[in-house]
Amino acid sequence: EHILTNLNQVGIKNHLVKRINMREQLVQLVDIIPIEFIVRNIATGSLTKRLGIEDGTVLDYPLIEYCLKNDELEDPLISKEHIIAFKWMDGSELDFVNKKIRRINDFLQGMFRGVGIKLVDFKLEFGRTEKNGKKDIILADEISPDTCRLWDVTTDKKMDKDRFRKNLGNLVEAYQEVAR
Ligand code: TMP
Repeated sequence: EHILTNLNQVGIKNHLVKRINMREQLVQLVDIIPIEFIVRNIATGSLTKRLGIEDGTVLDYPLIEYCLKNDELEDPLISKEHIIAFKWMDGSELDFVNKKIRRINDFLQGMFRGVGIKLVDFKLEFGRTEKNGKKDIILADEISPDTCRLWDVTTDKKMDKDRFRKNLGNLVEAYQEVAR
């Protein structure tokens, strides 16, 4: 909620409408685009496994990767050409979303860096909306330690879901620290 509210304030439209209670949010219904957009500032995870890049390599520029949202196929990596060829998005939509992604990454990197956390990588999804005949594409996803890799800026301590994935220690404590 904190992140989505702040993104909204810097002009990144997203699906959060309002908090209903401590466990529920009212969100805007969208027609979700069937692509997971993975943004990487530091190489780790599936990227290092797939390409043999050294874990922790700082990338000169943020890298955007695309995965098809299909559990049966285990969300395969796809290219821009696949996205256009199979009409999951057209070229102008893809340019629009890529620009948003870079702004979101800049904003989040700054926000996390300000509290001593490196934003290593994260996943985003977007959805199509239509209001009074006006079409738009908005961010439609949670952004949390479940969907980001967050490392302590000095110690590289993992403060995200990798604690669970790799059995690195108490998950809740780390998530609470991020939230604080
Ligand atoms: P990866 O290194 O496993 O490809 O993950 C890259 C980033 O995307 C990492 O921050 C975790 C996030 N992610 C999700 O949130 N959901 C997913 O289904 C996948 C594959 C990755």
